[in-house]
Amino acid sequence: MKKPRGVHDILPGEVERWQHLEGVIRELTRVYGYREIRTPVFEFTELFQRGVGEETDIVAKEMYSFPDRRGRSLSLRPEGTAPVVRAFIENNLHTWPQPVKLYYTGPMFRYDRPQAWRYRQFHQFGVEVFGSADPAVDAEVIALLMEFYERIGLKELTLEINSVGCAECRADLTGALRNYFTSRLKELCRDCRARLGRNPLRLLDCKEEKCRGLAREAPVPLQFLCSRCEAHFQAVLKELETLNIGYAINPCLVRGLDYYTGTAFEVTVLDAGAQNALGGGGRYDNLVETCGGRPTPGVGFAVGLERTLYALEQQGVKLPGAASLEAFVATAGEVAAAKLSGVLRLLREAGIAADRDYTGRGLKGQLKQAHRRSARWVVILGDEELSRGNMAVRDMDTGEQAELPETELVRWLRTRQSKTDVLVKDY
Ligand code: HAM
Repeated sequence: MKKPRGVHDILPGEVERWQHLEGVIRELTRVYGYREIRTPVFEFTELFQRGVGEETDIVAKEMYSFPDRRGRSLSLRPEGTAPVVRAFIENNLHTWPQPVKLYYTGPMFRYDRPQAWRYRQFHQFGVEVFGSADPAVDAEVIALLMEFYERIGLKELTLEINSVGCAECRADLTGALRNYFTSRLKELCRDCRARLGRNPLRLLDCKEEKCRGLAREAPVPLQFLCSRCEAHFQAVLKELETLNIGYAINPCLVRGLDYYTGTAFEVTVLDAGAQNALGGGGRYDNLVETCGGRPTPGVGFAVGLERTLYALEQQGVKLPGAASLEAFVATAGEVAAAKLSGVLRLLREAGIAADRDYTGRGLKGQLKQAHRRSARWVVILGDEELSRGNMAVRDMDTGEQAELPETELVRWLRTRQSKTDVLVKDY
């Protein structure tokens, strides 16, 4: 049996890197005052059609949608924002102290052509803040994102930022974009020609080289911002400067989801080709209302964790590898075998990672096994030592050996335990 294309197993050895990122995420969100939310991996399809937008690639082409047994259309979540908005409304989180600051990690699903950096099941870490339109919140979210990269050791990043404006700014912009691109219709790619009628803003973000050239001369949202959006954008930039966060304004950055209003941003990593977006987000002040809630401003981002790990690997950043086993308990003789489970339990209760053989190996085989498992210590229960009320213990790193009674074992190991290094593996 083979797994479907575009999905991955994360095996022991690799999973430790994920756990490391998850640890950073938990600590970082704690100090910034964000609380975790877990939403289902599937929702009614309508949530994404309304929330993300029917014309977006994500909803139009990439959703895993299926009817349930009663014929209702469900979809595996392609992103986390719309589900969190749904949960915010459904659970009346507007009654909580505002702003409500949430974070999530988990799998997302998009039916796209699998390639490097693009998977059909991938994982995101995201945050969403509800209930404040203050530009300082936009800046805080961006600061959190950049600190995440800093804490894990990722470098050579560019933060691109733009404002896509509100519905009011959008009206004039849409007309101007339509006029401009209609006059260059023949030069557009097929997708853009189709998009032009429905969502001309998206043409600014096309990855096709010929469309990118045209986009550079096209009308852009910044030229059409109303005074409120302009002031908000300037305040976000000022706050970023106060926080010492470098940015580049990209007037063509519009992002691939329809819910954005105002601030939009993306973080890219150098030398990663066309799929170089590691994370992105922005403000979505109408989304809660669009999904049936009372008007509530919101802002957030999501980071692709596979891409993040891949970028770390490319930059040669070392992350913690597998923690090795601490004690392997081996036996020689029948009296010893009867004592084995008691000793293991003693060690495990004391917080020492301990294991044993379950395949009937002789002492030599057990010692070999301890070596293969990279055990730091081997505890040997031999009938001879046991007859003296003792057991043998050997430190595989230093060669130190001792014979001691069971009551001394935990103390002996503990005084040395802090020196157990977590293996740091190269990629
Ligand atoms: P997004 O830009 O669609 O935004 O996705 C965020 C990140 O998820 C991307 O930058 C990328 O790292 C990762 N990603 C997306 N698709 C794939 C894929 N097929 N394979 C691997 N990684 C992928 C959102 O999802 C918004 N919900 C972000 C947001 C939150 N905006 C406001 N709040």
